[in-house]
Amino acid sequence: MQHHGAFPTTRLRRTRQHAWLRRAVAETVLTPADLVWPLFVHDGKAPVAVPSMPGVERLSIDGVARAAEQAAALGIPAIALFPVVDAAHKSDDGRQAVDPENLACRTVRAVRRAIGDTVGIICDVALDPYTTHGHDGLLLDGRILNDETVEVLCRQAVVLAEAGCQVVAPSDMMDGRVGRIRWALDAAGRQDVCILSYAAKYASAFYGPFRDAVGSQQALGTARSLGVGDKQTYQMSPANGDEALREVALDVAEGADMVMVKPAGTALDIIHRVKREFGLPTFAYQVSGEYSMIQAAAAAGWLDGPKAAVESVLVIKRAGADGILTYFAPEIAKALR
Ligand code: PBG
Repeated sequence: MQHHGAFPTTRLRRTRQHAWLRRAVAETVLTPADLVWPLFVHDGKAPVAVPSMPGVERLSIDGVARAAEQAAALGIPAIALFPVVDAAHKSDDGRQAVDPENLACRTVRAVRRAIGDTVGIICDVALDPYTTHGHDGLLLDGRILNDETVEVLCRQAVVLAEAGCQVVAPSDMMDGRVGRIRWALDAAGRQDVCILSYAAKYASAFYGPFRDAVGSQQALGTARSLGVGDKQTYQMSPANGDEALREVALDVAEGADMVMVKPAGTALDIIHRVKREFGLPTFAYQVSGEYSMIQAAAAAGWLDGPKAAVESVLVIKRAGADGILTYFAPEIAKALR
């Protein structure tokens, strides 16, 4: 007796036989439009390699403008900008963050001059590039201050918007910052500027290479002597999933246009739940450590780097992400052409 829907009537290998058929039945298709390219900018002329992120460089302002042109040519809709600030410009209170002449603002203006509106510029809102202790917020007596930090973040968001950044992305994980930033942007006449909230951001070991790149790792080392060498009092514990949904719910209520889950590869379940529960544009950040693991294994000859890169990003989309920040963005976009 034959059972419909069961073997031998049903053979799932049938649709896997031909490359064209595998392509035709693909449930998830990655396109360059799914990608956001994170870029590091520094105040030098020449590019400087990031040793713990093989293939990634800190670029000059002109270098970022050229990379943005490349992104446009590849069909990548946006870049995410991360300033590498000279030690001389860091301070305990990170006051450079609100200076309209800081590296991030100068880069935004230069890139917008060079490429107009062809590629979006997403800017982090957080104090870590600017603080001597490397924390995302103000540090006092071994504690990260919440409300005082939020006031500074609001000013940082406004100066970035004034420079021409179309999407501000608070990555600091202070409570209540999205609503306050929305209010501050609106008060400055910038109702047009989007907020992409790092809503569910985990305290993760996978940010290590990024902290090397922007020099906040060393700074956090000095913070350790002040009693707070990690970000666990504001970033989420990887143990928690329901809490991530509460974070997203609050940010949505406060006016976030889009939300982000980070890291991506260790939080595919969270990406899925967030997309399913809220249905709003959901981004995921394949962070530096995820990138470097693949690059290191590829360099050792242990896996096929380009294939692993595409697979790692494809499954983030399958989980529910509408957009993926990944250092592989240009390579993947080229491979997809
Ligand atoms: C800081 C920030 C971090 C990343 C993006 N914004 C690091 C951190 O929270 O310490 C990490 C990105 C990556 O690892 O690629 N606000």
